[in-house]
Amino acid sequence: MQQPVLPREVRDVAKKMMIEDISPEEARKYIGPNLSFAAAEAYKRLRTNLSFSLAEKNRCKVIGVTSALKGEGKSTTSINIAYTFAQTGKRVLLMDGDLRLPTIAKRLGVHSRPGISNLLAGNDILQRSAFLDGVHVIAAGDIPPNPAELLGSEQMVQSIEALSQVFDYIILDLPPVTVVSDALIASKLIDGMIVVCRQDYCEKKAIAETVRQLKFSDCKILGFAVTGSQIQKKNYRNYKKDYGDYYESGEKIARQDAPAL
Ligand SMILES: Nc1ncnc2c1ncn2[C@@H]1O[C@H](COP(=O)(O)OP(=O)(O)OP(=O)(O)O)[C@@H](O)[C@H]1O
Ligand SMILES: [Mg+2]
Repeated sequence: MQQPVLPREVRDVAKKMMIEDISPEEARKYIGPNLSFAAAEAYKRLRTNLSFSLAEKNRCKVIGVTSALKGEGKSTTSINIAYTFAQTGKRVLLMDGDLRLPTIAKRLGVHSRPGISNLLAGNDILQRSAFLDGVHVIAAGDIPPNPAELLGSEQMVQSIEALSQVFDYIILDLPPVTVVSDALIASKLIDGMIVVCRQDYCEKKAIAETVRQLKFSDCKILGFAVTGSQIQKKNYRNYKKDYGDYYESGEKIARQDAPAL
């Protein structure tokens, strides 16, 4: 399939924003407890919408996160969804399903191996990040020769099934749909997919192609998470001017009270 062509200046900006170019400290500015008031509120709204979308399912909910292109904010979104669910006392597992270019371990300061690719070897692969209170993490592990095959394996299905007995939510960070087929193959592991779209970066054509491919793989699309939205930032700035202090202090109490797993 042909890659969507992006204007050069958009590609350059996007390249600057790629996570591997920045330090883990810099990357942590945008996740978990370091989120701004506006961003934290946006992720909580996403959490609420996800709870409604999957309300009919009583047991563990497995949510995939993908996008059309690279660098749209999938890993950041995965981490923050995991964090906001954990804040409500849910037992949450975050898995790095991007077995080709994993970033979760580095961003959360946990070991990069063992991980998903070592699942079958019977290793103890669950980790906790000191940075992300209440969230268990499974890193990608050693990069396997064929990541798509591993994600599509029967053992993978069984592993997710076993983990579903222990957690309320499993968040699976996946690669972009128009680049590799991994996210499509992982569709059978999840209850639904969030599609991350970076504003002023991803073209409609690429989003349409992503949706088409996901539907073709029988994947339930739960919704779209728009990243890099300037409009939202502006609206929240005014809102925060009036109510910010009040809500920020309430937010701090809520975080302290959030039960650890
Ligand atoms: N909601 C957001 N608003 C603005 N910038 C964001 C947002 N989410 C993520 N970013 C930034 O976008 C860059 C890419 O983020 P991230 O690594 O999460 O993307 P990705 O889709 O996982 O990338 P890849 O395809 O390489 O795995 C990072 O610099 C991150 O801080
Ligand atoms: Mg990523």
